[in-house]
Amino acid sequence: MFWTLLLAVLLLLLLHAQLHVCLRELRSATPAPGNATQRLPGNATQRLPGAIIIGVRKGGTRALLEMLNLHPDVEVAKAEVHYFNLDENYRRGPGWYRAQMPLSLPGQLTVEKTPGYFTAPAAPGRARRTAPDARLLLIVRDPAERLVSDYTQVLHNRRQRGKPYRPLEELLLRRGRIDPDYKALQRSLYHQHLARWLAHFPPGRVHVVDGEALIRDPFPELRRAEGFLELPPRLSPANFYFNATKGFYCLQAAGRDKCLDESKGRRHAPIGPAALRQLCRYLREPNRRFFRMVGRTFAWC
Ligand code: A3P
Repeated sequence: MFWTLLLAVLLLLLLHAQLHVCLRELRSATPAPGNATQRLPGNATQRLPGAIIIGVRKGGTRALLEMLNLHPDVEVAKAEVHYFNLDENYRRGPGWYRAQMPLSLPGQLTVEKTPGYFTAPAAPGRARRTAPDARLLLIVRDPAERLVSDYTQVLHNRRQRGKPYRPLEELLLRRGRIDPDYKALQRSLYHQHLARWLAHFPPGRVHVVDGEALIRDPFPELRRAEGFLELPPRLSPANFYFNATKGFYCLQAAGRDKCLDESKGRRHAPIGPAALRQLCRYLREPNRRFFRMVGRTFAWC
């Protein structure tokens, strides 16, 4: 009788221990919503980005991300993450940031793009603290053209919500002069924003992509980006073909092709020649400062 009871107690203890191990395994395999890093079988895991496309808004950031994504050693975060520029996201911590990243294998490069980073004052310091070794890609475009594209996007969004919006020239000019407080203009003062990034990252960590060149002929820009990112050269001119209907290059790889959606390459809102001349005159000195900073010039207005 005694031995039977002892055996039963031992069996119960063994069962309890087994149940405990099972529960622990189950818990570690279930990611907490929003901020746990996923682990799948094999070496695939979510990693902090090795490269970040920091902007500039309307510079061609989506095209650059999609084109880099053709590279077999690159995994990209599909949605903009807005971690360094939005306080409510930054407060969620680096675990949350990492959980927004795609799964990647060792040796692959994780890339995210959030154009809002470039102009956000707190972003450079936060990025440096979170991902000190990250390489930064900045795609720029004629800042006057960028401003019009920026305005056009806001106009489009407001129209979709049934909201009115003032004409571009009313926002750009105050009593006949360029209004320095116009947000879309401020976003086009590249030298001011880049100076903040260079206070936190060495210049060798920042690569400038020519947005106009990317539109005209993407491959050479992509080859340069591969070099900067220390990726083996895997992209080729065959990855890009000009789509006459879209009016832009589209992407192809492994028998599949893709053009950017209709929010890219919209017809721009009109701006009169006199206002455009004024804008170009206003931007001349900021552009010069930017050229000095990056050690090259661009054929901007
Ligand atoms: P427009 O809509 O003013 O023409 P972002 O992705 O940063 O918002 O940039 C949008 C811009 O990307 C577009 O501005 C477009 O000119 C540019 N772009 C560059 N390459 C492109 C491509 N292959 N297809 C579509 N748009 C492209």
